[in-house]
Amino acid sequence: MTAIHTPVAPRIRISAPQLGPEVENLVLEVLRSGHLAQGPMVGRFEALCTEMAGTAHAIAVANGTVALDAALAVLEIGPRQEVITSPFTFAATINAILRSGASVRFADIREDFTIDPDSVAALIGPRTAAIMPVHLYGLPADMHALMSLASAHGLAIVEDAAQAHAADVDGRRVGSFGVGCFSFYATKNVTSGEGGCITTDDSMLAERLRALRNQGMRSRYDYAMIGQNWRMTDVAAAIAIPQMQHLDEIVRTRRRNAALLRSLIGNDSEVTTPRVPEGRGHVWHQYTILLEPGIDRDRVAASMSSEGVDTGVYYPGLVWDHEAYRNHPNVHRDDTPLARECTARCLSLPVHPGLSTYDLERVAEALDHALLAS
Ligand SMILES: Cc1ncc(COP(=O)(O)O)c(C=O)c1O
Repeated sequence: MTAIHTPVAPRIRISAPQLGPEVENLVLEVLRSGHLAQGPMVGRFEALCTEMAGTAHAIAVANGTVALDAALAVLEIGPRQEVITSPFTFAATINAILRSGASVRFADIREDFTIDPDSVAALIGPRTAAIMPVHLYGLPADMHALMSLASAHGLAIVEDAAQAHAADVDGRRVGSFGVGCFSFYATKNVTSGEGGCITTDDSMLAERLRALRNQGMRSRYDYAMIGQNWRMTDVAAAIAIPQMQHLDEIVRTRRRNAALLRSLIGNDSEVTTPRVPEGRGHVWHQYTILLEPGIDRDRVAASMSSEGVDTGVYYPGLVWDHEAYRNHPNVHRDDTPLARECTARCLSLPVHPGLSTYDLERVAEALDHALLAS
């Protein structure tokens, strides 16, 4: 007797890089050129980054974390100063602030998951040097309000735009409000495997950033400062370039997927779907819902996983609430009740451009089953 195999639907991952023949060909071109380190591909990548952010300059670096380090370094932010950021973020945000020698203060977030400008205002004091908004999940923070605060108090803005390639506020791209820091890590909306870039309109800052990433060299063996090796490779740039050329399409597909998810699960009373404030162009790095209080998130995630749907929890705790930071002298454990609540209730669903309508229906269905069972 012949066994009958029912086809198993492939697992739906929380992220899946979309790399095709264009990437393969460009990487091959780099490999065959023999020029692997920072070179002409990085230049091409940087030109695409200026288009993405709408800035005069973009400086490619090895990853998003050192983009933040570099931004703080060129702004000369350091000891005896404070930087205000969100507690609902990845460790890289506060690691960079702490490495600079500055102290970190945490403003609460709003229901859209981005930093609340009123809460920021309440923390501004004589030591405040910068605000570091995080455009979490691809949604820009309220940049109009934050820019007003920054200009009223003479503060720098460093945007953690790691998750927000081509997001905008009323048509103005993130990364152009302050010094922009992007990540091109493997799971990001555009990836180079590992990679980052810093965007700015300020030519002086750009010149210093270029030197800083390359051992402090202004020109060959002319050292203007104590620098780093934060360079991106041409191989990494070649992976990202074709995706950057299709960035509008990537964003369009993520927006379509998010709209579809919203219509599929929008009426479920046990979840709150993400809210996009007027004027903000979300690029849907993550589609993050809030489960009603009392729902067991681990059980929901396990049930969805058993139906072949991966989910993510970004982030399961306040960023400072870990051994490395709890007793750190430069970490102020500011009270941020909404952020704390979101850490307990958030669940991210797959929204990446590799998903078909059928996949998204499977995501919604798996969520539905999980909620019925919980
Ligand atoms: C909010 C945020 N900031 C910073 C980073 C750091 O970027 P990278 O992983 O490229 O160093 C990431 C990504 O991992 C991130 O999600």
